[in-house]
Amino acid sequence: MTRLELDGVTKVFGDPEKDGVVAVDDLHIEVPDGDFLVLLGPSGCGKTTTLRMIGGLENPTEGDVKFDGIVVNDVKARNRDVAMVFQDFALYPHMTVRQNLGFGLKREDNGMSDDEIEQRVTDVAEMLEIDQLLNNKPGQLSGGQQQRVALGRAIIREPRLFLFDEPLANLDAQLRKTMRTEIDELQSEVGITSAYVTHNQEEAMTIADRIAILNHGELQQLGSPDAVFNEPTNLFVAQFVGSPTMNVFTAAVDEREDAYRIDMGTATFDISKRLVNAVIETDEVLVGFRPQDLYRSGNRRIDGPEFDSEIRVIEPVGTEAVVHGDSDAGDVTAKIGGFHELSSGDGLSLTIAPEHIYLFDANTEELLKGRLISERADDQTSADGVEV
Ligand SMILES: Nc1ncnc2c1ncn2[C@@H]1O[C@H](COP(=O)(O)OP(=O)(O)OP(=O)(O)O)[C@@H](O)[C@H]1O
Ligand SMILES: [Mg+2]
Repeated sequence: MTRLELDGVTKVFGDPEKDGVVAVDDLHIEVPDGDFLVLLGPSGCGKTTTLRMIGGLENPTEGDVKFDGIVVNDVKARNRDVAMVFQDFALYPHMTVRQNLGFGLKREDNGMSDDEIEQRVTDVAEMLEIDQLLNNKPGQLSGGQQQRVALGRAIIREPRLFLFDEPLANLDAQLRKTMRTEIDELQSEVGITSAYVTHNQEEAMTIADRIAILNHGELQQLGSPDAVFNEPTNLFVAQFVGSPTMNVFTAAVDEREDAYRIDMGTATFDISKRLVNAVIETDEVLVGFRPQDLYRSGNRRIDGPEFDSEIRVIEPVGTEAVVHGDSDAGDVTAKIGGFHELSSGDGLSLTIAPEHIYLFDANTEELLKGRLISERADDQTSADGVEV
């Protein structure tokens, strides 16, 4: 049971005074006891370096790594009691899967009998669906099977922290989904504080209690999956989270009495001031629409702006389709249902509810207005027609 804290942690590779690479820049992150933190960001943003500093495989250039408020910077990796699964995991090649799994437990002074260890190995192997392979050596396994053994070796113990670095990268899509649910369930069951690295936003959104989004070594936002989706601190987070990627257009903004008038050139609309959580002082804003929030005009009674587009490509995904089109404002992507009668070249008129529109400062790219979850409020009022 451990509360993890990164207090101004910085890592510079090379000479900080000369041309050193700042891999991690002044990170402040606190992970409450038992929480599941996901470190999310593009390749090279410093995720692995951060995890390695937590695990003790890398020393911070500045700042402190703390476990339960105690600085562990000088504690060696093997004395930190953390279990790690890394991208480049290494199994003991001369040992069987059974021996690889049980090795850590045998070595530890944990009072477990051989029978208890054997039972635990069997349980973990069954969970990871590698129980048929217990007598094989790593050389006889596929990459994905090896990865599951590495995962098993970490989760078989009950350490202070679990650290995972893209532990599912070599698995096929189906197994990846099963495994991430398993990891999620396992972690909530045993309640061990965990930090999990991925560049896959969907994985992050499904598994995390809280997500730390990094870019160029800097923390962009630390928040729940809900918060980073609906209230991203800036355009980078907004476009990194959510699939398909948010549509973004430039627009002029003009202040009216109780609204902001947004002029995209192709469409002009008002956003009530009570929906905006900042005072807009710039003349230009970036307007963001999530593809899921766009509807075909006329399909829903929405009092929002309308855009005409011409369909380029339709990609069906089950009952809905991702439609890419050209509009006068630029490329537009929408995720809509009822697409069967549509084909490329057709005109498509789209609309969006004002609550769902995002606004960003055109200069700083900071959020001015997030996506309000109005459906929930609507559901509560419409159920029996009584306002609650
Ligand atoms: N040992 C090292 N020496 C020098 N530079 C390094 C070293 N390790 C990492 N870097 C640099 O630090 C930055 C962050 O690297 P890191 O491996 O933490 O990124 P990452 O977010 O894990 O990326 P990926 O998703 O590709 O694994 C990169 O610019 C990388 O080139
Ligand atoms: Mg990495």
